[in-house]
Amino acid sequence: MERSEILEVVSNYKNVKIATLGSHSALNILRGAKDEGLKTICLCRERERIIYDSFGVADEVIELKDYSELLNKKIQEELIEKEALLIPHGTFNAYIGKLDELKVPVFGNRVLMEWEMDREKQRKWLTDSNLKLPRVYKPEEIDRLVIVKYPGARGGSGYFLATSPEDFYEKSKELVMRGIISKEDVKNAFIQEYIIGTNVYLTFFYSPVLNRVELIAVDRRYESNVDGIGRIPAKEQLKAKINVTYTVTGNFPVVLRESLLAKALRAAYSVVEVSKKIAYPGMVGPFCLETVFDEKAEMYVFEISARIVAGSNVGIPYSPYSYVLFGEPMYAGRRIAREVKMALEKSMLEELIY
Ligand SMILES: Nc1ncnc2c1ncn2[C@@H]1O[C@H](COP(=O)(O)OP(=O)(O)O)[C@@H](O)[C@H]1O
Ligand SMILES: [Mg+2]
Repeated sequence: MERSEILEVVSNYKNVKIATLGSHSALNILRGAKDEGLKTICLCRERERIIYDSFGVADEVIELKDYSELLNKKIQEELIEKEALLIPHGTFNAYIGKLDELKVPVFGNRVLMEWEMDREKQRKWLTDSNLKLPRVYKPEEIDRLVIVKYPGARGGSGYFLATSPEDFYEKSKELVMRGIISKEDVKNAFIQEYIIGTNVYLTFFYSPVLNRVELIAVDRRYESNVDGIGRIPAKEQLKAKINVTYTVTGNFPVVLRESLLAKALRAAYSVVEVSKKIAYPGMVGPFCLETVFDEKAEMYVFEISARIVAGSNVGIPYSPYSYVLFGEPMYAGRRIAREVKMALEKSMLEELIY
């Protein structure tokens, strides 16, 4: 799909509706649109419908058998007819590879969303932004605590810790035997130095309309058994031979020590600057830097998401930061809708879509 074809669709929009897949941070996005007086559409599966029916933030619910149905011609025509603007999130991004088949306009920069799906590209983006990253290892090089990640196991499941090459191969073999990862995955393992410190996930917003970077919310993750293991005494931990995993089950709000904000903001500014060199028009809307502050309060960035992250849900209706900045309730979903409205007023909606 050529960008010009999508812009053609947008140019006919008069009453934009905010649409999103019913998953991930949809409640955030839909509530935000309603707070800004926009109509909303939620595309969800039968099994999640209860969520969107019970919170009442979707003016319209379109039921899909599967999220991939979004690409169906009929659904797309219906959405375009309704003047829907799709807001991407983590679940949506699983279909990003198929964006060529999508004619419905998507908020944000799809090239950057593709970059975030690729660990090598992510790494280049962050390195070019002069950020400190955890070191990457080949299996034979492992000489300290590392975290092993797999492409197919997003969301933290199947990730594990290792301390030596032997340890890596032994644990990989076990995961293959248990069917959690494939042999192919072992070859593609992404091995990273494990940074011990406090995990801080920063949701920013880049506004092309106002040309500014905004800190919207900060969270930390609540990750399945890695967060549960601390409740078991060391003796039992050792006997039970627990393998920690990082499956996300929730998020907590975080307020950073004020002096650390300088590092966080500088990082966000450079990431935005580099994004403009990666693909026109550069960053649009929410993005997240996933970081660890070590014992010297050094900030390591281990991941970037070029879209809204579920952690920003802790910022509804506001986080300390969005409140300081806006003086009114403001959160990622609402900020997206506000940007869309401002862009419509200035006839620059096209610049939010690529
Ligand atoms: N280099 C690292 N040092 C310490 N913890 C890490 C590191 N990389 C990842 N983690 C932990 O593992 C989790 C999942 O890793 P992440 O790279 O964010 O994968 P995903 O693509 O699944 O989001 C993180 O939220 C964090 O708790
Ligand atoms: Mg992550």
